[in-house]
Amino acid sequence: MITKISTLGGYLHEYEKSVADPAKFWSKIAENFYWRKNWDKTLEWNFDEPKIEWFKGGKLNITENIFERNLFLRARQKAIIWEPNDPEEECRSYTYDELYLEVNKFANVLRDMGVQKGDRVTIYLPMIPELAVAMLACAKIGAIHSIVFAGFSARALAERNNDAKAKILITADGGFRGNKVIPLKETADEAAQMAQDIEKMIVVKRTGKEVNMMKDRDFWWEDLMQNASPSASIEVMDAEDPLFILYTSGSTGKPKGVLHTTGGYMVYAAYTFKNVFQYSDNDIYFCAADIGWITGHSYIIYGPLLEGATTIMFEGIPTFPEPDRYWKIIEKHKVNQFYTSPTAIRALIAEGEQWIEKYELKSLKVLGTVGEPINEEAWHWYHDHVGKNRCPIVDTWWQTETGGIMISPLAGIIPTKPAFATLPLPGIQPVVVDKEGNMLEGRNVEGNLCIKHPWPGMARTLWGNAKRFKEAYFSTFPGLYFTGDGVKVDEDGYYRILGRIDDVINVSGHRLGTAEIENALNEHPLVAESAVVGFPHPIKGQGIYAFVVVPDLAPDIHDELRNSLKKGVAKLISPIAKPDEIRFVKELPKTRSGKIMRRILRKIVEGSTDFGDITTLVNPEIIKDLTEN
Ligand code: PRX
Repeated sequence: MITKISTLGGYLHEYEKSVADPAKFWSKIAENFYWRKNWDKTLEWNFDEPKIEWFKGGKLNITENIFERNLFLRARQKAIIWEPNDPEEECRSYTYDELYLEVNKFANVLRDMGVQKGDRVTIYLPMIPELAVAMLACAKIGAIHSIVFAGFSARALAERNNDAKAKILITADGGFRGNKVIPLKETADEAAQMAQDIEKMIVVKRTGKEVNMMKDRDFWWEDLMQNASPSASIEVMDAEDPLFILYTSGSTGKPKGVLHTTGGYMVYAAYTFKNVFQYSDNDIYFCAADIGWITGHSYIIYGPLLEGATTIMFEGIPTFPEPDRYWKIIEKHKVNQFYTSPTAIRALIAEGEQWIEKYELKSLKVLGTVGEPINEEAWHWYHDHVGKNRCPIVDTWWQTETGGIMISPLAGIIPTKPAFATLPLPGIQPVVVDKEGNMLEGRNVEGNLCIKHPWPGMARTLWGNAKRFKEAYFSTFPGLYFTGDGVKVDEDGYYRILGRIDDVINVSGHRLGTAEIENALNEHPLVAESAVVGFPHPIKGQGIYAFVVVPDLAPDIHDELRNSLKKGVAKLISPIAKPDEIRFVKELPKTRSGKIMRRILRKIVEGSTDFGDITTLVNPEIIKDLTEN
């Protein structure tokens, strides 16, 4: 097991070591794991191609590090406690031993279906234990899982499957979310019509609703598991063999298939989990994210299970059946570390203090937030009402591409400051650069956040698109990994993340590309073009504002068209991408080269008239039109 840093001095010492000799630092940490063969070289890299290889030549399997590494000590300890959507339904829990057997059985099911090392498997499941079993079974046999959040539409699912070319799709007859039933199988069937690679579907029974099962293509999970053997061999993986693909939005149209590999990701997820949350043996840890996003991958499943933790998996939403569900879960399971998003906190603040007041939440030791900047008001509420002024808050900054937490306090060790992610973790070397790429050194600086040295958990490429990987992350500032975020370093050297500076918006902690939403709007036959920008939203952090050009628009169909555009976006991407506001305009502000000047649109939605330099606009007269209405 990884030894935790336990003092501020310890952190400073480790940080110094990690910068002086990163390879030596990480190789010491990697020694905590089971390797079938030791690595020949700890790190080989350059950020020009780019090429990043950690623990080269090392052989391992990540599930061996979860199970065999933990089994002797923790066979009877709970690995996963599953809390269902409906509190009346019974919780299901799995000890390390039980989970191990389930994973083995499903590994055999996949092998029987012909899945081999390197094959991709798409998983489109709600937050049920089978999701954890499916992903770990893939890892056990060396298949690459690609988990698609169960809130995505058929089109979004098909698009991701087409990119990954997965032959197997794992889904469920449906999912429960609050008082809604999500028809996942129907959506999967619709996706399969657009995703020709899908040869077989495995369907978990969750809602019991009748669904269409296509002969020779669709199989019930329960039937397949019934006769599966509980013993399965491990596929020995190279440290740099792919572990998973996770699609995320970028500033251009198509989602990017971020690829993480085995050895480095494992070391990084476990190290950051243990240190940031200061997890101790027998603690109960609860991350309220969905496994469809990177937070769930790294901090519900891989990080906690690698370190032998008991991790809670919650199927539902914070407001069902009432807005005290999180507090109920924390009391019921005596949760010690709780990790959620600023959006969830703001939504619960809006429900009123009466929902939290009656809970003492005595078990809590650490609170975490992730996904978007946390405003000071939400930070204080979290600290005072949830943490009862006792629990440190870890504001963890990271990304799908970083694999794990990058800038964050270590709970109780690094003094916190509201809205600051504070300091980089050992091994992370952030730099701030201006628009031209000049390094802004020292304190009291503001600029673009980049990282100058590789860390083991970083993405290695984009699935099937190395060129886009280079363009998106290593070309804006040559020699550096560019995060896409703005940052401010204050007088104490503390980092405050200011949010995205590219055409990506962060809605309720979900990353959405403006181009993706525009493409969906433009599919409507009446729409000539559109431009989407984010605007400050009291609960969601950012809301979605769409400017839409519809020639000859009759005034009496405005509302109808707005509704149909919102529905269209939900159908083509997901309900989370639905614009909050749609405004019909005659023209969009454009440069001579035809580029939409989103900067101006952002100012308009903020109600500002300070547009800066508009001399490059080809149609300055439209500003008047845009600001008047
Ligand atoms: O803008 C940053 C924001 O979320 C982006 C990454 O989104 P995604 O890949 O979906 O991963 C989210 C979960 C790790 C970042 O570029 N972000 C994430 N955490 C924070 C944050 N912004 C401010 N503070 C944070 N703690």
